[in-house]
Amino acid sequence: MSRELRIGMIGYAFMGAAHSQAWRTVNRVYDLPVRARMVAVCGRDESKVAAAAVRLGWEEHTTDWRELVARDDIDVIDVCTPGDSHAEIAIAALAAGKHVLCEKPLANSVDEARAMVAAAERARAAGVRSMCGFNYRRTPAAAVMRQLVESGRLGVIRHVRAVYLQDWIVDPQFPLVWRLQKEKAGSGALGDIGAHIVDLTQFVTGQRITGVSALTETFVKERPLPSAAAGLAAEADGSGTGPVTVDDAALFLARLEGGAVATYEATRFATGRKNGLRVELNGSLGSVAFDFERMNELEFYDSTQPIQEQGFRRILVTEPEHPYMEAWWPPGHAIGYEHTFTHEMRDFLEAVGTGVDPTPSFVDALGVQLVLDAVTRSAESDSAWTSVAPALEQVAA
Ligand SMILES: NC(=O)c1ccc[n+]([C@@H]2O[C@H](COP(=O)([O-])OP(=O)(O)OC[C@H]3O[C@@H](n4cnc5c(N)ncnc54)[C@H](O)[C@@H]3O)[C@@H](O)[C@H]2O)c1
Repeated sequence: MSRELRIGMIGYAFMGAAHSQAWRTVNRVYDLPVRARMVAVCGRDESKVAAAAVRLGWEEHTTDWRELVARDDIDVIDVCTPGDSHAEIAIAALAAGKHVLCEKPLANSVDEARAMVAAAERARAAGVRSMCGFNYRRTPAAAVMRQLVESGRLGVIRHVRAVYLQDWIVDPQFPLVWRLQKEKAGSGALGDIGAHIVDLTQFVTGQRITGVSALTETFVKERPLPSAAAGLAAEADGSGTGPVTVDDAALFLARLEGGAVATYEATRFATGRKNGLRVELNGSLGSVAFDFERMNELEFYDSTQPIQEQGFRRILVTEPEHPYMEAWWPPGHAIGYEHTFTHEMRDFLEAVGTGVDPTPSFVDALGVQLVLDAVTRSAESDSAWTSVAPALEQVAA
């Protein structure tokens, strides 16, 4: 029987539920060197976290993350809280010798992300691993996109076109949840969903963003205050309004280190678009396009084919030969959002079990944070061109 890794998870709402589903499933689907055991979940409200533990399948619950991090019978801390607590929890967990999986964006600022990288580097010397949870990388179609780039099928990448479109705050009466508060979320659409397309495009192209010119907008500047238990299904509590302190939309032009030019758009005001994460790459030999709302498919155009046969073709990414798909269902039997998290846990357990560093590392996630920071600074200076330093230079500094 494989070795056990005892998991402690902090936060039990949206991501807590998605991660729990994945921890429950991962060893039933994949053959791995270590087995996840769901030991304890942490939240701030005793009765709610107790109910969540039962619902999500955790053996125990606690209301004190420090106590969880200090326990000898916990090997992994899984951080599923808003960004304002990522740094404090992850740094304490790494110092206590726990492997850490931290939700994205890694932190609310570059300084916090740098401190997390330093903690991860110190822990790494003792074989302690860390990873940031950019789950969209683990969509099989996105992994195929990367394979097409790596194998040269697209040639030289000229264009990267990425959007992440949602519409859940179009209604000005939607309350001021934590995602609309800078001190909790760091930024708005930029850090919440823009971070995903920054990571995904850097991952599929293998190229780093080197500079940006950005603008951001906050369309609704004041919103009703939310009830205490505010998640995405929040309601106004009737006690007044407060200021929205983050961007509602962030748009930017970028250059990548391999010479490609790129456009990015992240917004929660794209009426009718629910989770419209789309990436298209145009290269000298071909193009590829991905849309998460059709996540089992990829569009591929191969200009080396005879001219009479050229055209975008639809690849149904459900064959056992496709990344992650060997363990799921027969070809054509589609997978969904939750599977990206099962894949994330698979890669994490595989890396920890075999003693290698998982990716995206905290350094990779600092790289995303540096792009977000450059976008914010560019937008604040009338879209001035703003360079993005490599994360590794930042670590060495
Ligand atoms: N990978 C993805 O696709 C994805 C999607 C959504 C959110 N996220 C990220 O996941 C993180 C959590 O977002 P969410 O949507 O799950 O938020 P949420 O509001 O649904 O849940 C947050 C949870 O954290 C708990 N919490 C907050 N502060 C805490 C503290 N100090 N101690 C203990 N528990 C605390 C809350 O009680 C709640 O259970 C954020 O970093 C967010 O950016 C990632």
